[in-house]
Order: sequence, then structure tokens, then C-alpha cells
Amino acid sequence: MTAWWRDAVIYQVYVRSFADGNGDGVGDLIGVRDRLPYLAGLGVDAVWLTPFYTSPMADFGYDVADYRDVDPLFGTLADAKALIDEVHALGMRVIVDVVPNHTSSAHPWFQQALRGEGRDRYIFRDRPNDWESIFGGPAWTRVEDGQWYLHLFDPAQPDLNWDNDEVRGEFESILRFWLDLGVDGFRVDVAHGMVKPEGLPDIGRGNQATMVGREPVPFFDNDGVHEIHRSWRRVLDSYPGERIGVAEAWAPTPERLARYVRRDELHQAFNFHYLFAPWDAAELREVIDSSLATAGSVGAPTTWVLSNHDVKRHVTRYGSLARARAAALLTLALPGSAYVYQGEELGLPEVLDLAPELCQDPQRLRDPDSGRDGCRVPMPWTRESGWTLPWLPIPDEWGELSVQAQQGVAGSTLELYRTALRLRRDLRGELTWHESPAGTLVFSRGAFACTVNLTADPVDFEVDGELLLASDVPGAADSAAWWKVKCEA
Ligand code: NOJ
Repeated sequence: MTAWWRDAVIYQVYVRSFADGNGDGVGDLIGVRDRLPYLAGLGVDAVWLTPFYTSPMADFGYDVADYRDVDPLFGTLADAKALIDEVHALGMRVIVDVVPNHTSSAHPWFQQALRGEGRDRYIFRDRPNDWESIFGGPAWTRVEDGQWYLHLFDPAQPDLNWDNDEVRGEFESILRFWLDLGVDGFRVDVAHGMVKPEGLPDIGRGNQATMVGREPVPFFDNDGVHEIHRSWRRVLDSYPGERIGVAEAWAPTPERLARYVRRDELHQAFNFHYLFAPWDAAELREVIDSSLATAGSVGAPTTWVLSNHDVKRHVTRYGSLARARAAALLTLALPGSAYVYQGEELGLPEVLDLAPELCQDPQRLRDPDSGRDGCRVPMPWTRESGWTLPWLPIPDEWGELSVQAQQGVAGSTLELYRTALRLRRDLRGELTWHESPAGTLVFSRGAFACTVNLTADPVDFEVDGELLLASDVPGAADSAAWWKVKCEA
């Protein structure tokens, strides 16, 4: 039970918006390298880098044209290698994205397919079915000779045909390429989507998918994906040093999600059920219990995630910074592995007032409010931002949320995270719930206890112990606190 990933804190770097090393307004690998000491100082165990591969950027890198190279916008393969080595030298691990559900339409395979060669690597049909793209509009686009190809996302992201052995072989080779370069694992994009239902049946209007995917969607989560994950696990296990696979799987229930982390499949799966739970004690407790039980039933750790590059930042989702700070302490106290999305340690909110002409996310085609640009606004490093002309404007008021403004300032959100990550290293053991007033959560893990007040009124928790850390005055409305307690539960 000592595997590093079981309780790791993994920091998500959205490369485009993290740090700009060459001053062109877009984050890059040199920028990430410059900021590695910041991440080591924050106390994270691993860094997950979103796609930096060669790409026309129709979906900001989730449309890959060459899986074995770095897009010039982000740097070079030598930069990637240097980055991997530097992460390791600082005692952290590095996870990269792999995007197997679809390629870019600029990928040589798709270019060949357009010329009528090797179409079996993709999903071409004479007639489309009724599926809608997750980004909005039909999931099929017609090519010159009259056939249609499937794209669950943007038309520039044609879906691969995972019944084709060449596709399977190619991805195993891509995994080996990056494992040989030293990465410690992969975040598997759309891990629930590669295998489509037999015969591609119509599914009817009410059954169409969204990114949220909380309802069963017939074209997702088909049993056939698990065989792919098993084969990938064999590849990962053939390398030394516990290389891991993390499923971005939108499964309808925690039970279905646990199937992705069975002992011979991937190591972790993002817990979107937790992410989407409202700021409500009963609902959070329910999702925490079901997540622990279902992942536990297959011997896997649970993961906890509050934000990422696809969803509204949780400061805004929950409605206040106070709640977000409390949620961070709740999340980081739970047993399992936790994900931190860049900027959440600064308490960044969603940017809701980006000028429409600046928004570039293809998902806003579904409806303008679903666009993901607002959670991808670049990181403010200094009071002046630290960027020359960032690709999306950084709000002026973020100066006070910048790393420069918060570093070393007692009580700042950055220092709250840093202290929590340090203290978290000593947390061990299972979670025991304790009775507490309505609208609150109290649990312990050995001699450690966490109290969370999710109500609008102060609560006296009467804890017999020493306060370790608090998001606010202990017991205040929308706050959480960590305690060292005398008697172990
Ligand atoms: C999930 C990624 O997180 C998202 O950003 C992307 O648009 C889709 N997968 C398609 O690759």
C-alpha cells in the first residue's frame, strides 16, 4: 500500500495558460520549467501536463496531429525531455495526457482517409446516425465523395476506430515513446469513449451526451473500453517505478466508474461525482461514502477533484471564496489522491465577462454559456500579471490574487494550500464520521480531525484538540478546520 499515487496530490498544469517562457502570450514548456520550483515549494507530488503535442489547436491541443512531437507553440521535444528530468530532480513526478478517442483532422492518417486510403482507422459511413457532438451540432461531417465521418467532439477531431488493430498498436507504441522518455503516467482523455455501441444505433434526442455526462449516454461507457485499459495496464506495468494511468471517464455512477480502476485496469479515475456535488453536507457525505466504497471495492484509491480546464472554477460554482477554501480543506483531508487545478491555490474565480470575440473554446457552439475560456484565463504570477499580452486577458483585480501578492502572507489562500499539503503528508488511515449538527461534516482519521461548517451560521464544534489549520475562524459560516485530537477514533 505504499504506491506513490495512492495518496498523491497531482497538480494540473494547463500548459497554454500556466507560464509564458518566450513572451508570445501563450504558456509553454519553458514557462513550466521556470515555475517548477514554485510547484515543488507548494508541496505537490506530481504534475499533470495537458497536451503539448503538435496540433492545429482546434480544441487547444486535444486535437493531436503528431503524438510524438511538441507543438512549436509550446517548445520542442528537447524541452519536454528537460522538463521531465527537472520535475524528477525536484522529487516530483510527471503525467502527460494521451488522447486516444480521436486525432486531429490534420493527422496524416486522416489526411490519407480524406484521399480515400485507410478509412477503416476512423469511423466512416454512407449515412450518419442521430448522434450529436458534445460541442453541439451533428456528430457527423460529410466529405467530398459523400461519405460521413464521426466526431464526438469538433469536426476537426475525427473519432478513431478502436476495432482496428493498427490503431491499438499505434497507441501502445505512443505510450512506450513517452514512457521511454521518462513520464510517470498518462491521463487518458475520454477513457470512456473509444469503443462505440455495436452498429452505431440512433439514440434519440433526450439521450445525447454533454461534457457533464452524469446520465448514462448510450455512446459512452461501453464495456469494450475495458479491454483497452487492460492492455495499457500491461504496458505500464512493464516499466519500472509504478507508472500510472488516470481515466478521464464520465461514467454514470460511482459503481460504473470503479470499473475503470479494477486491479488490471487503470490506477485512478477522476471523481466527477464529487466535483459536481453541491455545497451541501448531506450530498457531499453521500458522494464521499459512495466514492470510497466503490473504489475500495476494487482495491483502488479514490480521487478528489474540484476544478479543471473543462468546468467552472469552484470559487464561482460554490458561490464564494470562503466556500472554496473550506472545500479545499475538506478535499485535502480525505483519504486518496487529490487533484489541484492551476490557480485554485490562489482562489481564482471563473472569469465570466470575457468579451465574446475573445472566446475561442469550440464547446461554446453548444451554447455560449458552456464555453470553457473562463476557467482557462492565464495564471497571475505578479501584481502586473507576469505576462506580456496573455492570450486571454487577465482581470486587473487578479493582481491581489497573484502569487506575488499571496506568497508568504499568513492566511492567504496560497499559504492555506501550502500548509495543508505539508500537514497532509502525515494523514493516514480510514475516515470515520462523527455526529455533528445539521449542515456540518465532522470526520477523523486517527488522531486527525476535520470539521466543516457548510451553513450560513457559525457552529461550535467543541473539538477536544489542537487547531492545526483553518480556512477562517473555526466554526464560522462556510469554513473548515483541521485538528489534532487527543483520543483517536
Ligand atoms: C476532455 C478534455 O479535458 C477536453 O478539454 C477536451 O475538449 C475533450 N476531452 C476532447 O478531447
